[in-house]
Amino acid sequence: MTSLLLRNIGSLVTNAPDCPGDLGLLENAAVSIRDGVIVWAGPDDEIPVALLRGASIEVDGRAVVPGFVDSHTHLVFGGDRADEFSARLGGASYEEILASGGGIHSTVAATRGASTDDLVAQSSERAHRMLRSGTTTVEIKSGYGLNVTDEIRMLEIAGRVGKQTGIGVMRTFLGAHVPDRGMSEEEYVDAVVEEMLPSAAPHADFCDVFVDRGAFSVESARRIFRAAADHGLTARLHAEQLTHTGAAALAAEVGAASADHLDNATPNDAIALAAAGVVAVVLPGAGFSMRTPQAPARMLWDAGVVLALATDCNPGTSYVESMQFVIALAILEMGLTPDEAVWAATRGGARSLRRDDLGVVRPGAVADLVILDAPSHRHLPYRPGSDLAWKVIKSGEVVQ
Ligand code: NIG
Ligand code: FE
Repeated sequence: MTSLLLRNIGSLVTNAPDCPGDLGLLENAAVSIRDGVIVWAGPDDEIPVALLRGASIEVDGRAVVPGFVDSHTHLVFGGDRADEFSARLGGASYEEILASGGGIHSTVAATRGASTDDLVAQSSERAHRMLRSGTTTVEIKSGYGLNVTDEIRMLEIAGRVGKQTGIGVMRTFLGAHVPDRGMSEEEYVDAVVEEMLPSAAPHADFCDVFVDRGAFSVESARRIFRAAADHGLTARLHAEQLTHTGAAALAAEVGAASADHLDNATPNDAIALAAAGVVAVVLPGAGFSMRTPQAPARMLWDAGVVLALATDCNPGTSYVESMQFVIALAILEMGLTPDEAVWAATRGGARSLRRDDLGVVRPGAVADLVILDAPSHRHLPYRPGSDLAWKVIKSGEVVQ
């Protein structure tokens, strides 16, 4: 049995009330961990004697928060698109680049052309940087394979990245990212439903569809989600990102775990998402990198939608790895409060992945914690761009 005790925590975010935005803060706190699981959290001067044995870390007044849950990434990819980024800085549009066969298609070519070992190595480097900066669970999508072999290869690589780095991984099949070059939308959806989904389902937890102009229609997505449900995969989707298509309403209709992006979401979308209990995953790194207006996170929160924050790490719209930076952006650019943003980056992410054991500090939860080199989580937006992770604990093990 391995045990670890964190002592003299200045400010501990527990999220224990399980109510969006209520961090359940404890001051002068301690946390006891056994075999990777939290067994006790409370005031430092009330630690049960039986828990005082074993290894301990003197936190010395620092703040501790649950490990960040990054619930939307495209972490596995070959190559990069720095040239495209420069072209966009010069005025080129994302949609035009995609329509002319670049964008996602150039990453598909680079991913197909890379060896599995190279993809594991490059993706693990990214995952390792995420873990060191406090992300203890990451959702990873396929979507740069666009055929049976390469989509499954991406999902297997995502699994290997988790084993190699120790970061927690949840996997999403995004075969319907864009139709492969040379195929109509209809032909491609047939291939997703008939060939890809049956083979990919055993390697994935969720099924995603990019619903947008230049990608897939609401009707295509509805068909794919029906087939996904038959294979045991829960829906999550890229919704209302570049244009408004009705994807958020579809998310509510099919009972999706999440609707992501939502840059063009309306108050009616918010009502539908809130009523259906669909988590809104907002991605401020994408709006920031694309220099487009941010999703209406404030409106969504105020309408009662449960919010999660994620990086959207991908080589096109958001080559962002740091959840600390995303939290700062959500506060400074979207108008969330520090308590709301930290909740959304931890428990909100866990909710969107339907993981009740993550993003919370209470007995029985996975012992994923970040010790900040700061007295309060409020330093995250106050000091944007600094890495404030002093130590990161994943399943009870200190990883940094
Ligand atoms: O989340 N919108 C679709 N997918 C990604 C971008 C993928 C890419 O450009 O490579 C996104 O923004
Ligand atoms: Fe995405």
